[in-house]
Amino acid sequence: MQVIRDREALAEALAALRAEGTRVALVPTMGALHAGHIALIEAAKRPGTKVVASIFVNPRQFGAGEDLSRYPRRELADIRMLTEAGCDLLWLPGVDAMYPEGHATSIRVAGVTEGLEGASRPGHFDGVATVVAKLFNQVGPDAAYFGEKDFQQLAVIRRMVADLDFPIEVVGVPTQRDDDGLALSSRNIYLDEEQRAKAVALPRALGVAARAIGRGEDVGSVLSDARATLTAAGFEVDYVELVDAASLSPDTVADRPRRLLAAARMGSTRLIDNIALNDGA
Ligand code: PAF
Repeated sequence: MQVIRDREALAEALAALRAEGTRVALVPTMGALHAGHIALIEAAKRPGTKVVASIFVNPRQFGAGEDLSRYPRRELADIRMLTEAGCDLLWLPGVDAMYPEGHATSIRVAGVTEGLEGASRPGHFDGVATVVAKLFNQVGPDAAYFGEKDFQQLAVIRRMVADLDFPIEVVGVPTQRDDDGLALSSRNIYLDEEQRAKAVALPRALGVAARAIGRGEDVGSVLSDARATLTAAGFEVDYVELVDAASLSPDTVADRPRRLLAAARMGSTRLIDNIALNDGA
């Protein structure tokens, strides 16, 4: 795997890949890789495709008081994992290369950014959309792979790609989970043993709620039961919401794909998870 840290070398390496007539698939990450990221690499590996991963801990998507300084950085372990997974090229820009002095442009996607994560993390999706657009322009991939765990992020990127005419196929990859069901996340390492044991209540509460809604039970009561279950398990609940899987609007219709999403804090660690209803994607 080639590891590239400057723009000129990236352009040369991409030109060489493209000269072989291959498609390029991009897997953008912030590092601290786990099996969820490797599933993205695996999904991206197709015949005739070269896989480019990027690692960039994007300061612009962290709000004041969020965990930028303590966000895990494990470059050597990440490089080893990507090499073993068969990734072809790693793009590792520094903050100065991504946001040189004078950088003044930001992308704001309206609508899908406004509730859920967007409500409690102002500016977060502007940072995500801006850096993903820059990565798309730097790498020029044919396809880009994102995990469904960050379901709202996926919706934001799909919207941006459609609105700004990026000629890129956006592929969502199902959430990878530990054996007990907890969604894999770089932030899980912050949980101590007791918190980790309690955290499994999050996917379980979503599963129970999704089944109850699927049976036709009253959505308001089901969501409030799920919040109570999470609180009793030791979470401080941010939201548990049922939304339309495409627009993320809370106005849902039972025969359209729907998604149940939750965010809750266990100690100082904020976890998110989501589950499909009606095969909502
Ligand atoms: O999901 C992530 O790791 C990040 O939000 C992304 C898409 C790499 C943008 O920084």
